[in-house]
Amino acid sequence: MGEPSWTTLHLDEAYEVVASAMDLHPRCGLVLGTGLSGMADAMSVQGELLYTAVPHHPISTVPSHQGRYLWGTWAGVEVMVLQGRFHLYEGYSPVQIAFPIRLMARLGIKVLIVSNAAGGLNPRFEPGDLMLITDHINFTGQNPLVGPNVDALGPRFPDMTEPYCRRLQDIVRKEALKAGLPLREGVYAGVLGPSMETAAETRFLRAAGADAVGMSTVMEVIAAVHAGLKVVGISVISNVNRPDCYEPVPLEKVIETASAAGPKLMHLLERSLPRIATTLEDSENDGKDSL
Ligand code: HPA
Repeated sequence: MGEPSWTTLHLDEAYEVVASAMDLHPRCGLVLGTGLSGMADAMSVQGELLYTAVPHHPISTVPSHQGRYLWGTWAGVEVMVLQGRFHLYEGYSPVQIAFPIRLMARLGIKVLIVSNAAGGLNPRFEPGDLMLITDHINFTGQNPLVGPNVDALGPRFPDMTEPYCRRLQDIVRKEALKAGLPLREGVYAGVLGPSMETAAETRFLRAAGADAVGMSTVMEVIAAVHAGLKVVGISVISNVNRPDCYEPVPLEKVIETASAAGPKLMHLLERSLPRIATTLEDSENDGKDSL
């Protein structure tokens, strides 16, 4: 056995603090994106911890992101929520962005639900639509797994054939259908930002097979897959980028549209969470360690 890496030492120290503050053991973790933080009001909160109280934890710099862990129950399911996330464009390294995800995995989270606000590239999309993420393209040129692999955290070359769990996608699709909630689906292109895409970049991303573009999510999902978590991703389409009649997209507009669509996403999650929790339990009772 080699020396433990600083990543695991830092995670151990953070784990001690969060684990001793938490009085429940949620299996589902949620990451709330731009304009969607308010969704945490829907849960019954049992405790919270500011990122500033967690050793080695990155701190949010974007005013629309609050920066704390919340835990409690949502739709009767124990959950842990990361309220306020980290972006490469803020200057965080991919490893810093992976930190809370790895911490949640260490705390026993098995399913990670990530939400974000994204620009639509698929011309059929409308602002305010929800999009189930079926796959992603990492256009950031970065990866949280670069460097010596810490085998205790996950494999050197994690499989990415199913980064977004198909069984869990099915649950979300079915719940959307039952609730009469239109749900788009597609590929999320993760870019570095913070400059928005040019018209030519928008055409390129669309031609590459993406349906939506955003500046978050892919680092977290790669870290989650590495850690063996099952991932569900949902984008709120805050704007639709049409390169032939391209319009500026101010941040206020992104926040406003994403916030307005928040209740729809909340409704979908409230319906899906109990089914996700039962599916997770069933697969564990079957003796399988994965969904
Ligand atoms: N581009 C990149 N990121 C985004 C967008 C966009 O149009 N909208 C929301 N996040």
